[in-house]
Amino acid sequence: MRQAPMLDLRLEYEYMKSEIDSAIRRCLEHQKWILGPEVGELENKMAGYLGVKHCIGVSSGTEALILALRALAIRTKGREYFDRTDLIITTPFTFTATGDAILRSGATPVFIDIDPQTYNIDTAKIRQYLEKSGEGVVGIIPVHLYGQACRMDEISDIASERGLFIIEDVAQAFGGMWRGRKLGAIGTAGCFSFFPSKNLGGFGDGGMVSTGDDETAGIIRMLLKHGGRDKYNVDHIGYNARLDTLQAAVLLAKFAYIDEFNSKRRKIAEKYNENLAGLEGISLPLVKNPDAFHVYHQYTVRVEDREMFQSKLREKGISTMVYYPYPLHKMKVFGEGRSLCDGGLEQAEKAALGVLSLPVEPLQSEETTSYVAGMVRDIFTKGLTGKTAAFSASPAGRGI
Ligand SMILES: Cc1ncc(COP(=O)(O)O)c(C=O)c1O
Repeated sequence: MRQAPMLDLRLEYEYMKSEIDSAIRRCLEHQKWILGPEVGELENKMAGYLGVKHCIGVSSGTEALILALRALAIRTKGREYFDRTDLIITTPFTFTATGDAILRSGATPVFIDIDPQTYNIDTAKIRQYLEKSGEGVVGIIPVHLYGQACRMDEISDIASERGLFIIEDVAQAFGGMWRGRKLGAIGTAGCFSFFPSKNLGGFGDGGMVSTGDDETAGIIRMLLKHGGRDKYNVDHIGYNARLDTLQAAVLLAKFAYIDEFNSKRRKIAEKYNENLAGLEGISLPLVKNPDAFHVYHQYTVRVEDREMFQSKLREKGISTMVYYPYPLHKMKVFGEGRSLCDGGLEQAEKAALGVLSLPVEPLQSEETTSYVAGMVRDIFTKGLTGKTAAFSASPAGRGI
């Protein structure tokens, strides 16, 4: 039986083996394992690609968020950490790290519901919340979930009207754009993850912060090396959160392929969309959105009977994943008064019950994409789930 894995890192390695092998060999030869030349080279290349003044390599996407938040607490408040009366608006429908970083910076996350079609934070609801009770809000962390841009013009307007910072969580959207601007280059700072499964993934953990602000960049550079310019005489409560030389070398080799791989992802998504358009009972991941250049970290559909759908696909050798089964406000860690919610977060809760991501391995063959699409079609046209649609299916987007 044909197999359709969510991703196939071995295949990707084979595709660029000679570049990766020689990048690793260079490291073996120079032996500069801590902040070796590859780290600076990667930072410069990424700054050029994104169109930002500074890119700073760090040890993970989670640390990128924490360091950016800590740097902003130091720069804007003159304190090492935010405190619990400092509120930071974000989405409840994201990976835990987004909210966890807010807690670890000392602030309180305020969860605002999502737009049910893009799964990103609903900007109209941010406005509503701020009009009701904006006191204490210091910043916004929009998450470009699944590779799709948040509505950055509106978020930037809201932030500049109220003097808030924006930290873009770009962990899932390397290379994505909003109205022609690279994600991570629009807010005060952008935080990237190089976790192996990301659009640009290393051979272990890694991350990056982008920013146009010299002071923020300077503080982050101190924080990631124990908190000082001089390692033996420090100013701030710091971390050991450097990006590994070896990871930077691998990422430099893989970076040469990022646009090609993102375009392969978009082609797979386009094909799924064409093949699944008009099916009743399945909601496709996007509506036509010419403003957002979607890079399909995930191709995520929504169905009523997810378990049945997932098990039918599994029987056919098709892997799927649920991102994410629990919205953040339902987790214990964000309970006990550690977070605030703006009323009900109904859309996030519904999404958590119905979403399912299909394989978008950039190197999967056209036959595999057709096979997956065909099986999904069969399930919905031949009634294999035994259930009919409860969600009103969104129109299939074409403008990717
Ligand atoms: C939206 C989001 N934010 C933050 C992170 C944290 O990144 P990392 O796993 O590199 O720490 C991830 C990824 O895992 C993510 O998907």
